[in-house]
Order: sequence, then C-alpha cells, then structure tokens
Amino acid sequence: MSKDHAIRALRGRLLWFVADPDEAGDAAHRFVEDGLLVVEGGLIRAAGEAKALLPTLPAGAIIADHRPHLIMPGFIDAHIHMPQTQVIASYGAQLMEWLTRYTFVEEQKLAQQGHAETLSAFLLDELLASGTTTAAVYCSVHARSAEAFFAESHRRNTRMIAGKVMMDRNAPPALTDTAASGYADSKALIGRWHGKGRQLYAITPRFAVTSTPEQMAAAQRLVAEHPDCFVQTHINENRSEIAAARELYPDAADYAGIYEDYGLLGRRSLLGHCIHMTKREWRAFAEHGAVAVFCPTSNLFLGSGLFDWQRARHEGVRVAVATDIGGGTSYSMLRTMAEAYKVLQLQGQSLSAFAALHAITRGNAVALGLEHLIGSFETGREADIVVLDPGAIRSMAHRLETVRDLAEELFVLVTLGDERNVVATYVAGERTASAAA
Ligand code: GUN
Ligand code: ZN
Repeated sequence: MSKDHAIRALRGRLLWFVADPDEAGDAAHRFVEDGLLVVEGGLIRAAGEAKALLPTLPAGAIIADHRPHLIMPGFIDAHIHMPQTQVIASYGAQLMEWLTRYTFVEEQKLAQQGHAETLSAFLLDELLASGTTTAAVYCSVHARSAEAFFAESHRRNTRMIAGKVMMDRNAPPALTDTAASGYADSKALIGRWHGKGRQLYAITPRFAVTSTPEQMAAAQRLVAEHPDCFVQTHINENRSEIAAARELYPDAADYAGIYEDYGLLGRRSLLGHCIHMTKREWRAFAEHGAVAVFCPTSNLFLGSGLFDWQRARHEGVRVAVATDIGGGTSYSMLRTMAEAYKVLQLQGQSLSAFAALHAITRGNAVALGLEHLIGSFETGREADIVVLDPGAIRSMAHRLETVRDLAEELFVLVTLGDERNVVATYVAGERTASAAA
C-alpha cells in the first residue's frame, strides 16, 4: 500500500463509526478525546486512547500532533463529474437545457491535448483539500479522459472509482461514441485500470437518454464480463428527463425498468438522483440491491426536487451521498450534508450530525461495498484520513463557545463547515500537499 513501512501516528480527537447511527444510536460511533491513530504501511494498525497506545510505539516513531483537532476517516463522494469543474455555477437552466447549453460545451474541450490532465489534477487537488479521499467519478466520452484521471489518481495513490462516459445519441457529434467503440474503449480501460493499485472502474452509460438500446446492451455485456466493476448512471432527476427516457424506451415498465432490462441494476450500481421514483421503482432497487445516490446541492441548484431519504430507508434501499459537481455547487461533503439537512427539513425529516458524518464516511463505504477497505478506523483499513478544525472560521469559533456536548459541536461543523475547516488530508498514511485555497 505504502512504500514506507515505518510506524507513525496521529494524535488528536478521534471520531469514526462502526455502525449506522440510525440503527445503533450512540453505539454507532467511537469518540476518543485524546486519541492516537497508529498507521503502518498505509493501513490503520490501531485507534484508541493515546495513553494506552503511546507506550506501544517503537522508539523514534513519528507522531503528528493534531491536538485539539478532530481526526476522521477521509470523506467519500459517490458521484462527481471530472469534466464539469468549469461548469459549476452556470446560470438559469434546469437539467436538459443545462446539459446542452453548458455541460456538453465544456465536455467537448476534453478532446484538446492536455485538458483532461489539467482538470483531473484540479479535481483531485480540490477533493483532497475538501477532505475527500475517495470519489466515484464520471469522465468524458473520450477514453483519454479516463486514462488521464486514473493516471493522476494512481500517481497520488488515491482510491478512486471512475469511468469513461458511454453516450451514442442525443449529444453533439463530437461527444458521441458508438455501441462498439464505447464497449471497446471501456473494456480496454477496465483491463488497464480496474484493480491497478487503488483504482476501480465504473461502467458509465451516462443515462438512458444518451444511449441507444445497442449501447445499453454493450454496457450489459461489460457488466456480465466484469461483475466486480461498478455501474454508474443517472435516473429520475427531472420531469423532462423522465419523459424523454420513457419515450425512447416505450417497452420498459418505467425508468428503472430500462436499466433493469439491460442488467444494469445490481449491488454495484450507483444511480444518481432518484428523486421522482414510483413504488415499483423503489421495489426494483431494493430487490436488486441498487444504490440511490442523493446529490443535495445539485438537486437544489438545478431545481430537480427533494430526495426522500426516509422513503428509501423504508423501502430497504441503500443510499449514498454525493456532490454531483458541476450540477452541485460545493466540493465539500460537509457543505453537501448541510444542504441534505435542509432538503430533509423541507419534507419533515431529520438528519443528526452523527448520521451526516456517518453518511460521508462509513455510510458511503458500505453503499459502495468498500467498507472492508475505507470509511473507518478499524484495524486493517486504508489510512485515508481528514483532520478538521471546527473552529477554523471565526463565526464557527464564536458559535462553538456555546455548545454543550459533542453532538452540538458536530452539528455546527456539519451545518457551517466546508474545506476551510480541513487542516490536513492523508492518503494511505501520507499527508498530502493540498490545502484549501
Ligand atoms: N444526467 C445526465 N447527465 C447528467 C449530468 O452531467 N449531471 C446531472 N446532474 N444529471 C445528468
Ligand atoms: Zn451527475
């Protein structure tokens, strides 16, 4: 994992989750006020009380003293678009117009030499500066865009999931592949990158609207041939999008039925948005174990609607949370959860700080099926870590003067926090250079 097998440690206030707070309550989290996180070879070796663990360190072990800051597992973003870092904050359109007026224009630029490399480096810098150490990333239709992203992520040793978008209709000619080339390019990328170091591949038909039945069948073949790859796509985000998808696939039971018919609804399938879902669609998700990806800042910014988390839970559907840059408006998973709280408030639902912080660490790891690798400080997990200073911002420090317990402090962090609260980010035990600008 790491070239460096020396034992090192981080000291500070440790917080991580071993279960879902909605199921286990206070037993779901572990909090150690004066804690030590011991790392060896890029993996967590121990997490606990500093006074108990300090004597176990070998002489000369390097200790990064982060007291009084909070040390948590690195954040996980389950849906983000690498080509959209210069689409973020584009004015005045809902999904379908936003795609044609802004997104498809920017995505064409990734054909230019070096642009995908520039955007990939930018995105990884921004994610790490926000404390995000794993993301599920859409690249552009160009195979080279995914190549560039994986190469940069591999160089940094970050655990990333990514895929080349497959899109063979209803997009500008410069942005379309074909069923055959989308299959061949994806297959080659899987061969080169899936499981190389920390990289994982997601088969990425953009959404039913931009893929012909032939391309959906090609994606189905890829899934059958590579069942351990992820699938990522969009569903039920916007009323016009739903009407377009239904018109293009009139024989499907509903929107989810389109993906179901092509074997794209499985336990490794990450479906962005899931706002306007029918009862049958929720059932189909539950039956196949598919993951609904909640993108609050995007859903508000594009006016798409309110994700019903309580309904997903009630239907037994796993939920992940994500920024969806550039429909989304912040790279920060803290800011994302602050907006999630408001989306749920508008529906009479609640979201505690523990539930929010669980969602962006262990919760997303579970939804991605990667909980054996990331998302917590249990022994043997990869040492992806974020160090947070809840008082880094003057208004937050002021508010924190009045908090009475950890739950209140964390709620201030989730509600007002962002990348400015990130003191340090570690990838596989190594501190990264990135800091918030
Ligand atoms: N649906 C299809 N493509 C996209 C995209 O790039 N962003 C969002 N938010 N929805 C989509
Ligand atoms: Zn998206």
